[in-house]
Amino acid sequence: MSMPQYPEYRPRRLRRTAALRALVRETHIDPSQLILPLFVRSGSGVRRAIASMPGVAQSSTDELLRDAERATRAGVGAVILFGIPDAKDATGSSAWDARGPVQQALRALARELPDLVRIADVCLCEYTDHGHCGVMRDGHVDNDATLPLLARCALSFAEAGADIVAPSDMMDGRVRTIREALDGGGHADTAILSYAAKFASALYGPFREAAESTPQSGDRRGYQMDAANAREAVREARLDIDEGADIVMVKPAGLYLDIIAHVKRETGHPVAAYQVSGEYAMIQAAADRGWIDGDRAMMESLLGIRRAGADMIVTYFAIAAATRLNNGYVE
Ligand code: PBG
Ligand code: ZN
Repeated sequence: MSMPQYPEYRPRRLRRTAALRALVRETHIDPSQLILPLFVRSGSGVRRAIASMPGVAQSSTDELLRDAERATRAGVGAVILFGIPDAKDATGSSAWDARGPVQQALRALARELPDLVRIADVCLCEYTDHGHCGVMRDGHVDNDATLPLLARCALSFAEAGADIVAPSDMMDGRVRTIREALDGGGHADTAILSYAAKFASALYGPFREAAESTPQSGDRRGYQMDAANAREAVREARLDIDEGADIVMVKPAGLYLDIIAHVKRETGHPVAAYQVSGEYAMIQAAADRGWIDGDRAMMESLLGIRRAGADMIVTYFAIAAATRLNNGYVE
């Protein structure tokens, strides 16, 4: 079939009114596809704002429940929990404490809002005193020594009621190790969302303030991916799927739309994308100065991520975007 030409074909005909544009719109966002990150610490009545992420806070479980309830009312699909423990050590052992903040929050969410999907981020960087995502040996993160610790953490979250565990550490072989631990522990139904293609990015800064997880020395380039590599990202996704990942994630999202498209096309697996703290902070900061329309930039950034091929999006905008969509958002 030949390509229609001007003047017979005029693409503008279908852009004339909002209703016509809606009729031919190719990509949609539904609140159920959005995942809200929440930072939880011990105590009650605690809400500590994160300076570099306006609207985001570290909260105790009681306060977290309020945010989760607002998310549920807006139709947000899931929450993903990050914990700030009371104590840190070299192996991150507070990560598998059954009374840890994430475990407590998971139990409270299961009781109070059972239909909201509960995802727990699995990593050691919030729990280690050195801030790296695994245990250290000779100045490097020891891959194989880290695996059983991640598995312990994942099993503990599953026992506390996580529907999905989400390893973000980037150790090789961790999906298989976690899958075996979950199955062996009677949690064959707990799903794994793996951060399959997680890049060593400049955009994680505000998150590290929120999660108190900045590495005390060095950086994460020895385990997170090089920003230049697209084919390697597809290999990483395939490896994780072979090891048992139910969903694969690309992170960050906005500067990695090509990666999202490749991973979706090459694997056909459910794909998540993480619009990270720096992406959120950039939009908020520019909007705050009146340099861009924050609401429109928010919706456009999410639409771009969906259009690239992400089935679901982790975003600090989840409640705001869901609310806009519920109020009949049209571009
Ligand atoms: C740590 C982790 C990071 C994020 C999620 N899990 C940061 C890092 O690798 O230092 C980043 C999320 C964000 O920036 O919003 N495993
Ligand atoms: Zn980590």
